[in-house]
Amino acid sequence: MSARWLEDELNGAGIQAERRTKHKAKKPLGRRRLETLTADAETGEAGDDIIRRLMALGHITEVVAELKSGKEATAYVARGPHGSVLVKLYRDLEARSFKRDGVYREGQVILDQRAARAMASRSRKGLEMLQAGWVSAEYAHLWHLWSAGLQVPEPLVGPSPFEYSATTPAVLMRLIGTEDQPAPRLSDAPLTPEEARNAWKQSVQGMADLLRLGYAHGDYSTYNLLWWENTVTIIDFPQLTTRQNPNFTELLRRDAQSLATSFRKHGIQADGETTLREVQRRAAGQGPAPRVVLP
Ligand SMILES: Nc1ncnc2c1ncn2[C@@H]1O[C@H](COP(=O)(O)OP(=O)(O)OP(=O)(O)O)[C@@H](O)[C@H]1O
Ligand SMILES: [Mg+2]
Repeated sequence: MSARWLEDELNGAGIQAERRTKHKAKKPLGRRRLETLTADAETGEAGDDIIRRLMALGHITEVVAELKSGKEATAYVARGPHGSVLVKLYRDLEARSFKRDGVYREGQVILDQRAARAMASRSRKGLEMLQAGWVSAEYAHLWHLWSAGLQVPEPLVGPSPFEYSATTPAVLMRLIGTEDQPAPRLSDAPLTPEEARNAWKQSVQGMADLLRLGYAHGDYSTYNLLWWENTVTIIDFPQLTTRQNPNFTELLRRDAQSLATSFRKHGIQADGETTLREVQRRAAGQGPAPRVVLP
């Protein structure tokens, strides 16, 4: 693999991050549309089979609003037996990240040769496998990070893969913020200078906490950091990479750079290299207290 190729791939990811800046405001769904999503078979309406499956499994009782519809996933606010839920629904099999995820998946070994061929051929079956892998990866990462005590949304299905694979292509986690006012991303939150310094400190610490566990986020910037009650929550984990990935160091450097760049609008002047060194320094320090996950 040439360095040029990696640079192009990573730049592609950069463009994607840029495009994400066009954050659509919270858009409560019209009553009709919500009804369509959650209609049951008796009414004769098809409804949305994934949402209906989540209801049948008892994970949600109601969809409250569509929060954000991105290219890869749609985020819904829902209600479940344990409170407010964020449903991240991956729908489009042709979504860009599945084409671009090579750089993140390098170093992964797929033992099943037939599955490996299907994924490489990008057949429908192969894309479905990639998508299922993406969903399980997000759950597995959420469970690991949550139980390690990091500030991430609590995963609401699992920790057994047997349980959470039943919700594919959706990932269910606790909603940060409230149903009326979900937490904004740091890219959208208006911050006072003092809040900005606080948010910056927490964000650098969050990246260090990930690194201590051996991870690079892979898309770490204010677009994937939520701000609620003076606390930074890290989101969006399918592309988390480990040191097994030959691009690890480059992805880490890239994350430090995008973190620093994305904080400029909040008046924080830091460069990528200094940020990276600070992250590495803190990663050598003590981490958060683990959470107890009951089986
Ligand atoms: N637990 C959560 N609580 C509140 N809001 C959330 C939560 N998780 C995600 N969101 C919202 O949903 C959006 C999409 O989530 P995420 O970043 O994980 O997906 P994505 O694939 O990057 O989607 P997009 O390309 O639209 O950003 C986030 O930008 C954030 O506004
Ligand atoms: Mg995101």
